[in-house]
Amino acid sequence: MEGKDGATRCAGRPSKTPNLRPKEANVMTFAEARSARTHESTQVAAGLDGIVVAETRLSSVDGHRGRLIIAGHPVAELVATHRFEDAAALLLGRTALAPAIGQGRLEAFERLGSLGGALDAGTAMAGLRGAIAQLDLRDDAQTPPRLVGAVAVYTCAWARRRRGLDPVRPDPDASHASDLLRMLSGETATTSRVRALDAYLTTVSDHGMNASTFAARVVASTRGDMVSAVTAALGALAGPLHGGAPGPVLDMLDAIGTADRARAWLQAELTGGQRIMGMGHRVYRVRDPRAEVLERVVRGLDACAPERLELARAVELEAERLLGERHPGRELRANVEFYTALLLEALDVPRELFTAVFASARVAGWCAHVLEQWQNGKLIRPLSRYVGRA
Ligand code: COA
Repeated sequence: MEGKDGATRCAGRPSKTPNLRPKEANVMTFAEARSARTHESTQVAAGLDGIVVAETRLSSVDGHRGRLIIAGHPVAELVATHRFEDAAALLLGRTALAPAIGQGRLEAFERLGSLGGALDAGTAMAGLRGAIAQLDLRDDAQTPPRLVGAVAVYTCAWARRRRGLDPVRPDPDASHASDLLRMLSGETATTSRVRALDAYLTTVSDHGMNASTFAARVVASTRGDMVSAVTAALGALAGPLHGGAPGPVLDMLDAIGTADRARAWLQAELTGGQRIMGMGHRVYRVRDPRAEVLERVVRGLDACAPERLELARAVELEAERLLGERHPGRELRANVEFYTALLLEALDVPRELFTAVFASARVAGWCAHVLEQWQNGKLIRPLSRYVGRA
């Protein structure tokens, strides 16, 4: 049944065990999986690399062909045709979400006074995690737009508080991207900046079974609530191997300074055992399609200095070459974070906020995965192999 603002799915947690889907050819039943393994034969799938843990209608990541489909649309097409709120609506099975997300921003702003010291945390992600964890929301159709609104408001409030400024009251009628930029700077952003941020938010709104989405689904699989699932996801996203990479990408560009120094700098990092941020991906064996989309968006932005872009491209190519020499046969190419860094920098988003802005978009995907997990999933409970003393 369709709700007031287009809710087409039950957003609540199931009160009893959902019916198992009919058996499909490539899905092992629990009984089959259990009978197929013994303590002795249990192999460790490190990092669950290559393991399929769920079926999803939300997004498809084809790592070999570099194709990403979000809510039924190739990512470049989705970005060209949908605002972030509309992409979020598709993910969440709603017909319209912008008014509810606007309302969610307003509600979150009005709750700022009751957050205590959560937003005084040392990092934006710690502030966000603390503030979101305090939400006491009943799981219903309003929870996802409330969470989407709250992540943006808390992100901007943390940043302004850090600079000794008052938070900016949201405008529930503005687009999410435009309001986010205004809540950050206090000024209305130009159309081209709003479009650029909107393209970014849409591009990263969902991405298969990434680590933070998996964290959210693990919580949802216990029939945990949506706020707890999103809180867990925030913790996973904060790590430098996941959503924490774009700030260090800029640090790297600053440290390199000019293209002619790229090779020596990168070589020294790799020799020292460091990872090159913004490069490599668990699933993609080609350049991340989101890097393609975001590079195009950055190139269309006046605010991005051409020399910065050229430096970035030179560093990307050099990193690709060096990683190729060290890991022949394993394509390690630019991932989404590489051009995210340039895009958010051009939009004057402070570096320490990059991961939180990422969360402002990905929260839509997390909520959609939680709904899907509640509907179709079962308790996620893998095994471990004991290697301690008997
Ligand atoms: N810099 C240096 N070495 C890298 C690397 C990078 N960015 N990415 C992968 N490698 C190395 C690994 O250390 C590994 O080396 P080893 O075989 O000697 O142990 C080899 O390449 C293969 O790694 P792989 O199995 O593909 O890595 P993964 O799937 O475990 O890791 C990432 C994927 C994303 C965590 C990894 O590429 C990385 O750390 N990238 C930098 C952080 C980043 O940009 N994160 C954002 C992801 S969207």
